[in-house]
Order: sequence, then C-alpha cells, then structure tokens
Amino acid sequence: MKKNTVAFSAVTLLLLVLIGFGIWMMISQQNNQSQGAPQDTTVKQKKTFTIDEVASHNSRTDCWTIISGQVYELTDFINRHPGGDEVLRACGTDATTLFTSRTTKDGQSIGSGTPHSQAAQEQLDQLKLGTLAK
Ligand code: HEM
Repeated sequence: MKKNTVAFSAVTLLLLVLIGFGIWMMISQQNNQSQGAPQDTTVKQKKTFTIDEVASHNSRTDCWTIISGQVYELTDFINRHPGGDEVLRACGTDATTLFTSRTTKDGQSIGSGTPHSQAAQEQLDQLKLGTLAK
C-alpha cells in the first residue's frame, strides 16, 4: 500500500513535470512568434547635401547632379545614357532645366529639345542619393 502511494506520487510528479515542460515550450514558442520578423535596420537614412558638395562631383568618373531639389549620382549611368555624353553637362550642377526640357538655361535645344520620357524619370529615381539642403 505504501509502495503504491510512493509509485503513484512519483508518476504524478513526473506527469506534472512533463505538463509543465510542455506549457513552458508553448509559451516560449508564442513569444518567438510575437517578436515577428527581425527589425529592418537597413532602412535608408535620409540624406541632405549642399550645392557645394554636389559641385565637387563634376566629372565623368564622379558625377552628381541636382534635379528638382533632389540629388542624384549619375557616374554609373553615363555610359548607358541613350543621349550619349550630353548627360555630362549635368555633372556638378543643377540640371533641372537640362533634364526636364532638354534645353540649356539660355534656351539652346539639346537633341530633340523635348522633355525626357517617363521611363527616363523612372531610371533617375533609381539613382537618387538624397535631397538638396535648403
Ligand atoms: C541632365 C542632362 C541630360 C541631358 C542634356 C540629356 C540629353 C539627352 C539627349 C540629347 C537624348 C537623346 C534623345 C533626344 O534628343 O531627345 C537623351 C535621351 C535619353 N536620356 Fe537624357 N539627358 C540628360 C540626363 C539624363 C538622365 C539623368 C537620365 C536618366 C537617369 C536620362 C535618360 C535618358 C533616356 C532614357 C533617354 C531616351 C529618350 C527618353 O526616354 O526621353 N537623361 N538625353
């Protein structure tokens, strides 16, 4: 009788330990899920640049430009530009007029002298570095 009681207690204790372990596993799994995907720490920092900074990137091998208050790096794009080296006019300057109307500031047409296409604008978006400081 006493032996049975001891055995019963031992089994009960074992069951309680097992149930406890099961519950602990469930809770820790839920905690992991609620943490969700790891935080994206690669979110692009918003950057601003001065005109002087842009002006120092004024060559074929290091070409930044300003278009409508945004700063772009054109260096890798220069050799892919469908309009050839005309794009070099943009390096280190505010090229808003050049890009939006393909004319110089004094009204001289470059190529067709028409605005760049929507496709050109989309390519430009991919080259954005940041915003021009006010
Ligand atoms: C800001 C200085 C730039 C100048 C002076 C310039 C000039 C030209 C010229 C002369 C053409 C040949 C077609 C035509 O005469 O209409 C052309 C075509 C083209 N350029 Fe530019 N370009 C400039 C910047 C850019 C930039 C920054 C991009 C894009 C990142 C770009 C994208 C294109 C594309 C995609 C074409 C093919 C025609 C079109 O889709 O409009 N250009 N460009």
